[in-house]
Amino acid sequence: MFKAPRGTQDILPDQQPYWQLVRDKIREVCGLYGFRRLDPPLFEETRLFARGVGETTDIVEKEMYTFKDKGGESLTLLPEGTASFMRAYLEHGMHVLPQPIKLYSILPFFRYERPQAGRFRQHYQFNAETIGEAYPAVDAEIISLAWHLYSLLGLRGVQLQVNSIGDSRCRPGYNKLLTGYLRDHQKSLAKTDRDRLRRNPLRVLDSKEEASQKIIAQAPKSTDHLCDDCGQHFARLREYLDLLKIPYTLNYRLVRGLDYYTRTVFEFWAAGIGAQNAIGGGGRYDGLAKLLGGRDTPGVGFGLGLERIILTLQQQKIPPPPDPGPQVFLAYHGGQGQKEALLLAEKMRGVGIRAAVNHGGRSLKAQMKQADREGAEYAIIIGEKEMETDTVTVHVMHSGEEFTVAKPQIINWLKNRLFQR
Ligand code: HAM
Repeated sequence: MFKAPRGTQDILPDQQPYWQLVRDKIREVCGLYGFRRLDPPLFEETRLFARGVGETTDIVEKEMYTFKDKGGESLTLLPEGTASFMRAYLEHGMHVLPQPIKLYSILPFFRYERPQAGRFRQHYQFNAETIGEAYPAVDAEIISLAWHLYSLLGLRGVQLQVNSIGDSRCRPGYNKLLTGYLRDHQKSLAKTDRDRLRRNPLRVLDSKEEASQKIIAQAPKSTDHLCDDCGQHFARLREYLDLLKIPYTLNYRLVRGLDYYTRTVFEFWAAGIGAQNAIGGGGRYDGLAKLLGGRDTPGVGFGLGLERIILTLQQQKIPPPPDPGPQVFLAYHGGQGQKEALLLAEKMRGVGIRAAVNHGGRSLKAQMKQADREGAEYAIIIGEKEMETDTVTVHVMHSGEEFTVAKPQIINWLKNRLFQR
């Protein structure tokens, strides 16, 4: 027997109402904030991610689904969205349009990670990106968009963590300072963190290794070493968050796992869904466009994980609206009854009535049970008596009331009942 590949899942019909709810609210909130949808292809040239996300990141080093196509070109299934958004912005010359450009998408991403609760090898993200504007109010707006979505969904207890990691002017100095400090204390760091120190020192700060915690707690903080512009940018962002009454925690250990970030970084954390508690994360990426060979273009955005949002909804017992069942179930007797039922069902669907018919030639009694199970509002019975008199019997499921209606009148009869409430 085949199984879905490790770290992937079928999203079964019973789960779909949750996905529908989240997608509906995303569309709603993007409409409210004026974000327009952009769907890039699901694979790109491998170099895009090596350049954009960074050679020494976990994603590029270990997690990409990379393959050669028949033409010998190296392609990679999207491990994330931001590099593609920026590629599309540059490729389509969006800088000539009024700035900023506000884009969103809901896409599956692919990362060869160790699967666990809330961590998949194919996961879906809602991405929102504001490209072409450097003002800190834009960072605040993007954070408030995510915040608004969580609130529309009714999620409780989401925590916003923010930090600033500086830019190309002040980060190198801070990096040096941090590296020096960590080197001085190498012996007390966990082995994986000593490796990280060599490849990507900033990442040591978000290490979960018990052995390293003491050293990390005393490490120099990026926010104490920002240049004037970055310092001001961060101060203004915090003012805007206060103004918008969005509570946040300053988290100097928040550095994020992708190399393109400058200045603002942030994450949203939820309680009760296990170790993978980041239900969203993002930040500013003012250097990304140039890394990709384009004109200097600022940007800020986030990715929110749909699986983790849905886990949180379930954990907080927030039910989605159920899938609507059929409004009408047609039950019939015999071959002629079946033909009439099929025809009537088609006519009903033609005027927008959700109609279901049983195809297995079961007894009328069994069909009525099925109508009940499927949650139909009305059963239409086409039995022997009804066929003789060119009528149908309407059975109101919740009350058991019955009406005899002339068959040519039944569509109008139902329309009056169903659509004029
Ligand atoms: P990221 O932090 O790698 O950022 O992913 C964003 C969110 O996607 C995470 O907070 C989490 O909710 C979800 N996520 C990530 N990996 C997995 C996984 N393996 N299984 C389930 N959920 C996952 C980015 O990808 C950036 N591109 C976000 C961004 C957009 N930054 C600026 N613009």
